[in-house]
Amino acid sequence: MTTEALIQDPEALKPAGRRASAEAMGAKQRDISVSEFFTKNRHLLGFDNPAKALLTTIKEAVDNALDACEEAGILPTLEVSVEEVSDGRYRVRVEDNGPGIVKEQIPKIFAKLLYGSKFHRLRQSRGQQGIGISAAGMYGHLTTGKPVVVVSKIGKGRPAWRVEVRIDSRTNEPKQLNDKNDTVTWEKDHGTSVEIELMGLYRGGRTSVDAYLEQTVVANPHLELTYKPPKGAPVHFPRVSDLLPPEAQEIKPHPHGVELGMLIKILHESGKRHVAQTLMEEFSRVTHAVAEELCKRAGIDPNALAARVDAMKIEALHAAMVASNAALPPIKKFASKVARSDGNLREEVMEEGTGFSTPLADLVIRKAGLEPTLKAKAVTPMMVEKLYQSLHESQVKILPPPANCIVPVGEALVMEGLRRRFKGEFFTSHTRPPAVYRGNPFVVEAGVAFGGTLSREDSADVLRFANRVPLLYQPRACAIHEAVLKVDWKSYGLQQRKGELPVGPLAIFVHLASVWVPFTSEAKEAVAHYDEVVREIRLALMECGRKLGTWVKAQQAERWETQRKTLFEKYIVELAASIHSITKVSEESVKKDFEAALPNHVRIALPPVEGGAPSAGGAVEAGGEEIPAEADASAAESTAPVEARPSDRPPEMSDDGEGSPFEDVTPGNTRQLVLKMRPKSGRK
Ligand SMILES: Nc1ncnc2c1ncn2[C@@H]1O[C@H](COP(=O)(O)OP(=O)(O)OP(=O)(O)O)[C@@H](O)[C@H]1O
Ligand SMILES: [Mg+2]
Repeated sequence: MTTEALIQDPEALKPAGRRASAEAMGAKQRDISVSEFFTKNRHLLGFDNPAKALLTTIKEAVDNALDACEEAGILPTLEVSVEEVSDGRYRVRVEDNGPGIVKEQIPKIFAKLLYGSKFHRLRQSRGQQGIGISAAGMYGHLTTGKPVVVVSKIGKGRPAWRVEVRIDSRTNEPKQLNDKNDTVTWEKDHGTSVEIELMGLYRGGRTSVDAYLEQTVVANPHLELTYKPPKGAPVHFPRVSDLLPPEAQEIKPHPHGVELGMLIKILHESGKRHVAQTLMEEFSRVTHAVAEELCKRAGIDPNALAARVDAMKIEALHAAMVASNAALPPIKKFASKVARSDGNLREEVMEEGTGFSTPLADLVIRKAGLEPTLKAKAVTPMMVEKLYQSLHESQVKILPPPANCIVPVGEALVMEGLRRRFKGEFFTSHTRPPAVYRGNPFVVEAGVAFGGTLSREDSADVLRFANRVPLLYQPRACAIHEAVLKVDWKSYGLQQRKGELPVGPLAIFVHLASVWVPFTSEAKEAVAHYDEVVREIRLALMECGRKLGTWVKAQQAERWETQRKTLFEKYIVELAASIHSITKVSEESVKKDFEAALPNHVRIALPPVEGGAPSAGGAVEAGGEEIPAEADASAAESTAPVEARPSDRPPEMSDDGEGSPFEDVTPGNTRQLVLKMRPKSGRK
């Protein structure tokens, strides 16, 4: 209410009385179903505007189709069609050749939120939450009143079931609308077709359906895709690799990342198992020796019943498990920080260290014979040393998670994918070794395409992927974008303003593969900013940048040599004429001598070959030429940009003959050649 309105209505100025009783308020409390929640908060799932809704719907169905094909070991062949039924109303259909879905599961999969096969396992897949396709179906029903139509067949000679289903958002339960025994004839041996009608907007650009499908093809070279857009001819993307990605192995959680609540749940649900046995069976990399050591640190009998361990001891066990991943900064740095701090020791350990929980910090501090509340300023260098020793002693050595649970695209196929999408002159890629965030293993791979028809004036095109799925929205909220900005692209011969993307004919590919991608929201649009993730992306990009820089500089040197050669050739004619007029040696013969000597003085590299064959071992290609794998591997950890050698730098040249190009331009030999001729000609 405005001040003016209050003045006109004196009643409104009276002190507020009781409005509702606790009983009346209590009577209003009720459960909220997950589907009601997401109906109101559909933006959280990527349905905040019609264009995004259309893209998200296609994305969810395509992701599922690819996951299902790969899990079943089938090379995916997909057909995506988008038909404009009426103004702003679209019918999306995604058909796959996957394993199909058993009849009883179809209604729940397509019309029940939080129902899926991927949430409870730690294994790399595109889907993880069990929301995607039912949310798309829910949005479709909400905006058009039409159900999801599914046809699915699980094998040759089996019926192709046809199911029309919609979600009941009050109960989050599916409602099948057609006869439960409806079948159709389908020539396919197996597969699933999903049809959703929705209000949407079909448009071009960076976040379009077309861009999403093009990028999907880049990260999935084994995919054959036919796309029928609302207008125009269908587009066909044949597969470029007949090899299915290796099957990602499912892993158990790693002790490094376990949260206290999760550990409590695991122990309480361990039935009749003992503590050591439970730890070994429920966690990755926990051997018998590790389990015993962890129990010892926590003061637990390894043969005690796990379900009976009390809360205090579980906390101590948790501290011992995560302690092995905790770290403090270099001792000198930490000591000087503590000396300047106004806080207490516990606060400093938590703030400066990584992987510390409060109980863990207290445990380490107390083990060092100190009090967590001790004023930081009172901490002596001796005490700091004791603290480091205590941390070291509290740590049980546990191997990092195994790498076979992650399946990156691979350096050769990343380049192949980039070549499929961009007509560049130079391609390179780099895959980092596996790393871990919050106990979850991940691998980062990066690639770049450069030159050719890529725009020279625009900022680099950044293609972001998580578990082979293109991420089109929220670039600024994404760790991948942050890492691209953190790389100094100027060192690699590109233009870049501080805090901005590099400018030039460059496309950057970044793929984060993990058993659990840390998305910033349920819409799975951007990767969260975990330090470990940003660091790995940056290192992968720097490696690609280094190779790109070498190539760019070699290209510059080659252009310079060509210019030199042209200048030499121009002066050879004039020189031959002058020498002839002085010495009477025939012009032709002088020219021949000079031309014969020319290759000794200019180094012209071979022009790059367009579109070479896919590389198997090496990861650098200039229009198809490959640098051997060793060169690539040796540079794996190197992050230093390549320095231009002095001879690589083109001099300022003028074509107007001002000054002698021989004198100005060339080192060593060329000048000798000119001098050698001088005595013959008798000129000074
Ligand atoms: N085309 C398909 N073929 C076979 N199974 C499918 C197909 N589509 C979905 N499924 C099954 O349905 C489940 C639910 O799919 P949904 O997209 O809702 O969740 P999700 O893929 O598990 O996770 P997310 O919400 O992250 O996408 C999947 O886990 C999968 O088991
Ligand atoms: Mg899904």
